[in-house]
Amino acid sequence: QPRPSSAPDHASAAAPPTGGRLAVVGAGAVGSSVAYAAMLRGSARSIALYDIRAEKVRAEVLDLAHGSPLAGGAEITGGDDVACVAGADVVVITAGAAQAPGQTRLDLAGTNVKILESLMPQLLAQAPDAVFILVTNPCDVLTVAADALADLPRGRVFASGTVLDTSRLRWRLAERLGIAPRSIHATIIGEHGDSEFPLWSSAHIGQVPLQDWTDGAGAAGAAGAADTPALSREELDRLGHEVAGAAYEVIQGKGATNLAIGVAAARIVEAVLRDERAVLPVSSPLTGYRGISGVAMSVPSIVGRAGVERTLEVPMDEDERARLLASADALREVQRSLGL
Ligand code: 2OP
Repeated sequence: QPRPSSAPDHASAAAPPTGGRLAVVGAGAVGSSVAYAAMLRGSARSIALYDIRAEKVRAEVLDLAHGSPLAGGAEITGGDDVACVAGADVVVITAGAAQAPGQTRLDLAGTNVKILESLMPQLLAQAPDAVFILVTNPCDVLTVAADALADLPRGRVFASGTVLDTSRLRWRLAERLGIAPRSIHATIIGEHGDSEFPLWSSAHIGQVPLQDWTDGAGAAGAAGAADTPALSREELDRLGHEVAGAAYEVIQGKGATNLAIGVAAARIVEAVLRDERAVLPVSSPLTGYRGISGVAMSVPSIVGRAGVERTLEVPMDEDERARLLASADALREVQRSLGL
């Protein structure tokens, strides 16, 4: 078999990494996976991993660094001194307590807000110009807390939100309909948690509204199926429910979710460092978004070098508007209990 190129076997297969410095806070299952995904994808020129657990973070840094020459060559550093995040362009925060089986994301709020209160001033001192991306749950509530602590320009603090849930939805629809995930334009918005929901009214497959999609699509031999929507209202509800509950199944089986959130966070980091102005459902503090203020929630947003540059007022039907308000109420209730 001819070699695809004359490059030696140890040469990196990945493209050279994007310029920019990424710091990941927390070397647990999620933080390590964010760093790993960013390294493989070439999301940043350098990746620093910080954790207060010296031995753990040293081991994770070594394990990543050992693979880096085969993966695009990003510089891998880190340790238990917060100075290792100095000068970062993007800081991804994953530190905090994780969900145990049976716990909701909102159950973690009190503990993780306290951790953030001690962490945020230290991170700001090291990386005052960074964009801060919260991944720690409940990420919407923590975004409100971090935003209040940081007093940075609008959009510089936001959360990964429902980028992961949206990926889960696209994967599920792709599997159900036999269409490439990249051709499925459907988004989950609201809380990254139990009250999140899909925007079915604006979902498309290619150019076809999802609610009009038929299995037969006029194909020969598909008699009877051609004009019936492939996905009934009941099935749409079931799919939305399944996606909102997906993390519980993963946590039950392996104790945590880490791989998919790693990819989702790396994707968001790229949108920032490459100044893509990509539309992603990230969570930022809302002020007057469809009448909602005082909470952070995911809505389609333009993400670039300044962080969340704008939220988009996408079309919603009556049911979706009601669910958005209910999601805001759920978050507001938790914030009130924490005095936020
Ligand atoms: C997830 O959705 C648990 O928030 C985490 O995977």
